[in-house]
Amino acid sequence: MFPTHRPRRLRQSTQLRRMVCENVLTTNDLIYPMFAVPGESIAKEVKSMPGVYQLSVDKIVEEAKEVYDLGIPSIILFGIPENKDVEATGAWHDCGMIQKAATAVKEAVPDLVVIADTCLCEYTNHGHCGYLEVGDLTGRVLNDPTLELLKKTAVSQAKAGADIIAPSGMMDGFVQAIRTGLDDAGFQDIPILSYAAKYASAYYGPFRDAADSAPQFGDRRTYQMDPANGTEAIKEIALDIAEGADMLMVKPALAYMDVIWRVKEATNLPVAAYNVSGEYSMIKAAALNDWIDEQRVVMETLTGFKRAGADLILTYHAKDAARWLKG
Ligand code: PBG
Ligand code: ZN
Repeated sequence: MFPTHRPRRLRQSTQLRRMVCENVLTTNDLIYPMFAVPGESIAKEVKSMPGVYQLSVDKIVEEAKEVYDLGIPSIILFGIPENKDVEATGAWHDCGMIQKAATAVKEAVPDLVVIADTCLCEYTNHGHCGYLEVGDLTGRVLNDPTLELLKKTAVSQAKAGADIIAPSGMMDGFVQAIRTGLDDAGFQDIPILSYAAKYASAYYGPFRDAADSAPQFGDRRTYQMDPANGTEAIKEIALDIAEGADMLMVKPALAYMDVIWRVKEATNLPVAAYNVSGEYSMIKAAALNDWIDEQRVVMETLTGFKRAGADLILTYHAKDAARWLKG
């Protein structure tokens, strides 16, 4: 009790504070999301995400080099196809956007770890993450038929050079389906980073501009989780672990710090947190108004994810954070 205990004793100097610092963000923790579009020499800024661009493959390669030179070990690729259809052809076609971008990046920057987001919502004409019954306007995605398409998508992404497959559609059994598909195609060594606890969140708004993937009707609440649920996240990760997931993701991050913590406590697999588009846009908007100190708020937020238990952080701030970490 005071005055015997004075916690301020350990806060008196920079050196002392360094000695008792519990969590350190490093560039190794960062994964940078990128959006591939058809065409050439295209760099189109996403209106709601200043500093984030839809890029044609040649520009993706340029930025991937920059990311690698900053010391960031990994990117995650999203694709925006020329055409959308009921079969989500652009997702699993060997000439799909993620496939093309993955091949080009691996050729130019072989060391950079390329993660492929594996979902159908960017490629279906209705914007949902899987197959719908013909005429269904509620968005009740058919689970098991969707698994076949996801399997096909993952195999084609691995063939194109993707190092990690990251299924994000919250279909039941998707890890097992993709694991089987990869193994049967000879990709036993390609890990799966499962979006295991992904919530039906309003924080994805700006991403749906970036990836042009807003559902045309209905919403994603029949497959993504209810934001009110925490214990259910433990059920979700247990299933994905049993099905063979190598890494687990919690998404979004900021409003779900408790979930990150609980997942980390419940597993010995690496845990990733997705610092999503809406979280990025809020910081950017306030910073552009000079209402907050962008660097300090970003670093505090990212360090907060580490403290909550995240081993990896997917974030649109990755390049800025890497520069700030370099000093
Ligand atoms: C699609 C997907 C989404 C994000 C990543 N993959 C959005 C969604 O479910 O609508 C969100 C990323 C972000 O908001 O930054 N399966
Ligand atoms: Zn999706």
